[in-house]
Amino acid sequence: MRLKDKIAIVTGGARGIGRAVCELFAHEGATVIILDLLPQGRDVAKGINTSGGAAEFHVVSVTDRAAVTDLFARVHQQYGRIDILINNAGITRDRTLEKMSEAEWDTVMEVNLKGVFLCTQAVIPYMKANKYGRIVSAASNVGLRGNFGQTNYAATKAGVIAMAKTWTVELGKHGITANAVAPGFTMTEMVNQIPQEHLARIKAGIPLGTVADPIDIAYGYLYLASDEARFVSGICLTIDGGMSR
Ligand SMILES: NC(=O)c1ccc[n+]([C@@H]2O[C@H](COP(=O)([O-])OP(=O)(O)OC[C@H]3O[C@@H](n4cnc5c(N)ncnc54)[C@H](O)[C@@H]3O)[C@@H](O)[C@H]2O)c1
Repeated sequence: MRLKDKIAIVTGGARGIGRAVCELFAHEGATVIILDLLPQGRDVAKGINTSGGAAEFHVVSVTDRAAVTDLFARVHQQYGRIDILINNAGITRDRTLEKMSEAEWDTVMEVNLKGVFLCTQAVIPYMKANKYGRIVSAASNVGLRGNFGQTNYAATKAGVIAMAKTWTVELGKHGITANAVAPGFTMTEMVNQIPQEHLARIKAGIPLGTVADPIDIAYGYLYLASDEARFVSGICLTIDGGMSR
């Protein structure tokens, strides 16, 4: 087991990539604390507990500093440490630059960028105290390449990569690594919204010829959260079927 006895917090773990991360981490021996706004996070935790793993679910928004701080304090009190933070929660509000409203810009900033900042800031005291930490945040290959209709989203994903690099220099001496994962198109609710014919065009542009399954991305998170990646910090691991090269 690659995460035996680790305490891992996963944001946005109710579905999609986050759910795959929760299930994989639990399978690898971690106790998984799931944060999400969607009630189906309860089913994810239940499924993990039923199959012999350990998980709990909390309805908390990554944008709510007080709720995040309170939850992390309770997790630390209960388990004595927090080893891993996966900043996975993210949203889109796509619109071309000319049509994008200020509210669409702000909402995406609030969750994808400020949520990552708030959760990471809240976990650091516990990781420092333990001289150990793994922070892995959801970027996107869109943060490297840009994408039509995603001014707000692309900006946040580039920001996540920059934050990981900054935390690497600030926190490395405390035994904390900070990295990003940049998935390409992955078969989740987020990508389900794309019309079929557009999706076919997208697949044609991916060298490996298809979109990712959430587990393909979860394996990247597992590597960066494991002890095997103890000398890896400040990177963005692109998992996009060869799109970014
Ligand atoms: N699916 C893709 O193709 C793709 C590609 C690149 C990057 N990503 C990134 O990977 C991450 C997961 O994507 P996904 O496709 O699984 O998305 P998803 O929409 O299926 O799941 C995201 C989860 O985050 C939760 N969430 C949203 N706002 C939240 C908040 N304020 N607080 C707590 N939880 C919140 C949602 O309820 C949902 O369960 C996102 O950050 C996304 O930007 C996805």
